[in-house]
Amino acid sequence: NHLRHVESMSLLPSGAGKISQLNAVVLGESIASEENDLVFPSKEFSSQALVSSPQQYMEMHKRSMEDPAGFWSGIASEFYWKQKWGDQVVSENFDVRKGPIHIEWFKGGITNICYNCLDRNVEAGLGDKTAMFWEGNERDVDASLTYSQLLQQVCQLANYLKDVGVKKGDAVVIYLPMLMELPIAMLACARIGAVHSVVFAGFSADSLAQRIIDCKPKLILTCNAVKRGPKTINLKAIVDAALDISSKDGVSVDVCLTYDNSSATTRENTKWQNGRDVWWQDVIPKYPTSCEVEWVDAEDPLFLLYTSGSTGKPKGVLHTTGGYMVYTATTFKYAFDYKSTDVYWCTADCGWITGHSYVTYGPMLNGATVVVFEGTPNHPDSGRCWEIVDKYKVSIFYTAPTLVRSLMRDDDKFVTNHSRKSLRVLGSVGEPINPSAWRWFFNLVGDSRCPISDTWWQTETGGFMITPLPGAWPQKPGSATFPFFGVQPVIVDEKGNEIEGECSGFLCVKGSWPGAFRTLFGDHERYETTYFKPFAGYYFSGDGCSRDKDGYYWLTGRVDDVINVSGHRIGTAEVESALASHPQCAEAAVVGVEHEVKGQGIYAFVTLVEGVPYSEELRKSLVLMVRNQIGAFAAPDRIHWAPGLPKTRSGKIMRRILRKIASRQLEELGDISTLADPSVVDQLIALADV
Ligand code: PRX
Repeated sequence: NHLRHVESMSLLPSGAGKISQLNAVVLGESIASEENDLVFPSKEFSSQALVSSPQQYMEMHKRSMEDPAGFWSGIASEFYWKQKWGDQVVSENFDVRKGPIHIEWFKGGITNICYNCLDRNVEAGLGDKTAMFWEGNERDVDASLTYSQLLQQVCQLANYLKDVGVKKGDAVVIYLPMLMELPIAMLACARIGAVHSVVFAGFSADSLAQRIIDCKPKLILTCNAVKRGPKTINLKAIVDAALDISSKDGVSVDVCLTYDNSSATTRENTKWQNGRDVWWQDVIPKYPTSCEVEWVDAEDPLFLLYTSGSTGKPKGVLHTTGGYMVYTATTFKYAFDYKSTDVYWCTADCGWITGHSYVTYGPMLNGATVVVFEGTPNHPDSGRCWEIVDKYKVSIFYTAPTLVRSLMRDDDKFVTNHSRKSLRVLGSVGEPINPSAWRWFFNLVGDSRCPISDTWWQTETGGFMITPLPGAWPQKPGSATFPFFGVQPVIVDEKGNEIEGECSGFLCVKGSWPGAFRTLFGDHERYETTYFKPFAGYYFSGDGCSRDKDGYYWLTGRVDDVINVSGHRIGTAEVESALASHPQCAEAAVVGVEHEVKGQGIYAFVTLVEGVPYSEELRKSLVLMVRNQIGAFAAPDRIHWAPGLPKTRSGKIMRRILRKIASRQLEELGDISTLADPSVVDQLIALADV
């Protein structure tokens, strides 16, 4: 009754073509997984799954493509609408040659996403169900809220926001760590039609100020300090500095509502500006626990979330209400095969899109029980995640490959000391998951029992675009598998021609889906230029992708990270995956560097498994690994030993910094303040010539 697992899966993309009999699966014939490098869901899993066979997936996908309006309006009808949308479910222009890009779903429909997350669930009898389990940085600090309690807290804050003059359409900046107050704040904004802009609480004062200047919020929500692992971070001081910067730019914020996070600091140690700063606990509990919702149009903005582009200042990605609501709820339900008894934990921070769509909105629209974790996965030790899984009986665990790889470096006993019996489905997001991390996650964490939903999507897409449906398809480690309902991915060549069948190219999407972003705040032209002009007629994701013979999609990383060596295009993710499959390599990051002869050379930063010493032999065997798995043209020119890699607090490797180190432009490292651990940069510089 376990998923059958194949150890000998060859690496992408060269091995992908070997799998040729998937049509047999589609036809319901049995095929030997050992010969086909496929990982099958068990019969038990599939039989209880929402989508339990390739046929069922294909029928649903076909219907979603042939009749998107019918498909999505059927699902939308399960939510509460004060007034139904107009005759046209979807109206779009996806082609810059035909005029301005515009996307509208359920226009004319009047609803409220907070109402659908909370009131609707309470009315359906889920009032006493746990909405949130909160686990603090330290083991013994925790809390929880039922759906009724959450609704009351959201209403109190919403009433306060209205009282201080926040109105429908006003921006509110939220700069909070993973306290329960973060989702509460998002939901309170949504309740009154205010547009939240959550800024990840690892951003510096300058970055925060930049966002404040762009969206001009009425109010900012923060807390005085937070503990992350052993460190205390004084967030209020960062907000003070940011507000100084923004006021010099003519943008002043009237109110700074500050949650007193007494587990991290004291009120006495918090700098205060009377008239502007208000303690959350002093005012919010005085407000009524019910609050009328502001009914909004499906196309009214819900939130702004700033994300980095390859050039220029951060882009304010704007999502609207109705389509986003329907899309996040539906993707959550199917990609994780959600059941009402599940306990779901997504390790992402609400400062990123994953925390918006899959900590707050998607799960709560389904009435799910969500774990919110304030701390870091290796505090006090590498077993913390599995300790939390056991404590709350987590059944769906959604995380990033980087976390998997960092935990893989430690002794397996940190995993095996914990039961993990409650786990049912695992998830991965944020970057391609290399097959060796996939296997460790699958075999060790999930005891070869839990399918992995490797979800490909972006801040811009709002929700999952390419993702396994865990009971439907056999998986291939490292592939995000197939498009979600209503999504038509296409792979195009440099000229923008669609390529059919087995191929590699630029990943685009044809036609809109309900969760798509509608514009870049204040810059519709940049929206069109960045996403719709590179390949006219399509949304361009910025990612490279290949599709194998069986139609599985394999993401190869951002095309801005592609390296061109002697005319060969090499995905950094491919080289990294090869290096990471070396038994002594814990993690690798690859960047391109200028090379006199080849144009670009491959420069690899390699983190070794704990305790393994650096050596020339090891260097050679790592290079050989890449030569063997991809080809001689992909062999790294340089291996740079890396005790750690520069990562943002959300776990993304900052290649910008690696490129500068690789090219020895050390004075141009730029802002390293958003790194989880800025000291890794000095360590790397010290090892540059080792
Ligand atoms: O390159 C892809 C990668 O992350 C990018 C989107 O980043 P962001 O907007 O920050 O959103 C991250 C969370 C959705 C994509 O362009 N990416 C995300 N998920 C995957 C992925 N690459 C491969 N596989 C994934 N599952």
